[in-house]
Amino acid sequence: MKNELYDRIKVIDKALDEYLPERDNPQSVIYRAMRYSVFAGGKRLRPILMTEVCKMSGGREEDVMPFACAMEMIHTYSLIHDDLPAMDNDVLRRGMPTSHVEFGEATAILAGDALLNKAFEVVTEHGCNAPNAMRAMRILAESSGTEGMIGGQVVDMESEGKDISIEELRYIHLLKTGAIIRSSCVVGAVIAGASDDEIQAVDEFASNLGVAFQIRDDILDVTGTEEDLGKPIGSDVQSGKNTYVKLIGAEKSEELVAQYSSKAVSALKIFGEKAEFLIRLTNYLVDRKK
Ligand code: IPE
Ligand code: IPE
Ligand code: MG
Ligand code: MG
Ligand code: MG
Repeated sequence: MKNELYDRIKVIDKALDEYLPERDNPQSVIYRAMRYSVFAGGKRLRPILMTEVCKMSGGREEDVMPFACAMEMIHTYSLIHDDLPAMDNDVLRRGMPTSHVEFGEATAILAGDALLNKAFEVVTEHGCNAPNAMRAMRILAESSGTEGMIGGQVVDMESEGKDISIEELRYIHLLKTGAIIRSSCVVGAVIAGASDDEIQAVDEFASNLGVAFQIRDDILDVTGTEEDLGKPIGSDVQSGKNTYVKLIGAEKSEELVAQYSSKAVSALKIFGEKAEFLIRLTNYLVDRKK
């Protein structure tokens, strides 16, 4: 699996590199800051999911690539802002000093903003001839906004230091992490021209995968190593975050990761053998170390 993922990362990184050139002008620092965070590393999970769902649903990689890169830019912007002193206040990301440590807070904020803008520049410039492009753009925008990632980040911040229920925590995870994992998969299916039933199945797959992914992230904040993860350990406890580990303990959280992952896999049944890669990827992520 590792080598297969590496091959896919290479293809995505080549496209990202083309869409994010350096520029020699008075604002050149913004290009450097954008590229710094995007190319610091990262698993490229969302673009991999999008391109693989698109291929599984009979679509073409070249049609979906601008959207996949846009999604990685949005995700990277969310990480830059998530790490800011006003939010999680973390100093390490993708194995490198966070954007605000490297470039200062103002430039980090602007680099996040610029990546969000760039995402929509890229899809409108390179993606508009893809099938169902407008619908895909809307899904991209909605899922990263107030009903999606940003909404989840708001509730996550507001819940810091408070006792919340497991249902409230599931809501946070569904939004802050689940929403763009979901939209990555749904956009892949939409661009492939998938049927409503297929889109529904992909949505079900991704919602469960998204929650499993964030529960594992919560567990790794306690049991992982800084070296593997490329981000600080213990950050959630330090900032009084509500996590699955805090609410139900590590053991139960492990069980939930397995449960949600198996629900995700079941949802792909209607794709038969074509779902083989995504099923293996889901199983691989169950006990990921980074
Ligand atoms: C980190 O996402 C933030 C979460 C939603 C848990 P990833 O674990 O996908 O981070 P990268 O892209 O590999 O750096
Ligand atoms: C981040 O959740 C979710 C988003 C960036 C939208 P976390 O705050 O748990 O992510 P990490 O642990 O910093 O990567
Ligand atoms: Mg956070
Ligand atoms: Mg964080
Ligand atoms: Mg975390």
